[in-house]
Amino acid sequence: MIRIDSVTKRYPDGTVAVDRLSLEIPDRSITVLVGPSGCGKTTTLRMINRMVEPTEGTILLDGEDVQRQPVTTLRRSMGYVIQNAGLFQHRTIADNIATVPRMLGWGKRRARERAAELMERVGLDAALAGRYPYQLSGGQQQRVGVARALAADPPVLLMDEPFSAVDPVVRKGLQDELLRLQDELGKTIVFVTHDIDEAVKLGTMVAVLREGGRLAQYAPPADLLSHPADAFVEDFLGADRGIRRLSFFPSDALELTTDAVVPADAPAERLAASDAPYLLVTDAHGRPLGWRERGSGGDRLLSYGRPFRPGTDSLRAALDCAVLSPTGWAVAVDADGRVTGVVSQQTIGEAIRAAHTQAAPDPDADAARGEDEKVAG
Ligand SMILES: Nc1ncnc2c1ncn2[C@@H]1O[C@H](COP(=O)(O)OP(=O)(O)OP(=O)(O)O)[C@@H](O)[C@H]1O
Ligand SMILES: [Mg+2]
Repeated sequence: MIRIDSVTKRYPDGTVAVDRLSLEIPDRSITVLVGPSGCGKTTTLRMINRMVEPTEGTILLDGEDVQRQPVTTLRRSMGYVIQNAGLFQHRTIADNIATVPRMLGWGKRRARERAAELMERVGLDAALAGRYPYQLSGGQQQRVGVARALAADPPVLLMDEPFSAVDPVVRKGLQDELLRLQDELGKTIVFVTHDIDEAVKLGTMVAVLREGGRLAQYAPPADLLSHPADAFVEDFLGADRGIRRLSFFPSDALELTTDAVVPADAPAERLAASDAPYLLVTDAHGRPLGWRERGSGGDRLLSYGRPFRPGTDSLRAALDCAVLSPTGWAVAVDADGRVTGVVSQQTIGEAIRAAHTQAAPDPDADAARGEDEKVAG
């Protein structure tokens, strides 16, 4: 575990970048530092691997003061990934990834094998091994940066806005990939971002910092969204925090109905028998084709929007489907895309209210937790 204990960093010009920060960073999980520009995120990260030395306070790694450890040993135990990957431009991708193993005295062959293994791990085509960084896309370069940081298998990974320089689609891909990789590798990751959505998506724990390097709140993302500590955090979380919080509630308890689901070749009596205002028409494999308005005998179907998968998708996804659907009903499908039922906006609304009631802690427990947070923070 990394323990940051009342750490302050005052730069020589008097700037207080970090102000009495205390954090317990749990092992084998992703801890995100998030906050506006200049709030001391990078400074905090760099104090962990001693690229910056604290003015006051201590940082403990597995109970040992990092100040007492030789810098080289310390850095070897911590991979470091930055924005734009920071690759060596005159070295090939494979050589970039093998940098640390080579420094550690690994033979050429072993280092190359390790590079190949890591390229596969982070989703890079082996054919890219001989290229130079400028011959790769931004997203690919970021993957190389991650592979390079993992090369010597360090227990800790420090990541400073690693995905900020790529477009939203690539960024989402890299985030998903990081979560998958973390499932496999179980590193202790400290991840810096100024994007609260990224923080909420990736973090097991999220530390919100405010200007002056002070901790505003340290909590799991769902708690952050449900109980922002103050107006600053609430403002930082943004206007749609209620909707975003729905990502943490599963959709599998939603009551689906199949009454309004009919195959395209259903006999006319079957269509007439239903009194639903819209019928969801499915193809021969049970996949959705679109909505037919009751009484509109024609072939014209309304779009069924984007279906959701109960059990995999959250209540947020289900609600989004219903909102996007021209009928106000969301379509549920299984892994093969076959319709398992439909659900109305109203039913989803009821499920949301029920989830909120269940999730709301009783006021006494809340007060006790507030005390705990004060002790921890
Ligand atoms: N070497 C330095 N000398 C003086 N002040 C510095 C130095 N490095 C950083 N600072 C100041 O310390 C504060 C925190 O900087 P830091 O880089 O840690 O912020 P950050 O949260 O990473 O910001 P950003 O989101 O813009 O990357 C800022 O006010 C910055 O100007
Ligand atoms: Mg920074």
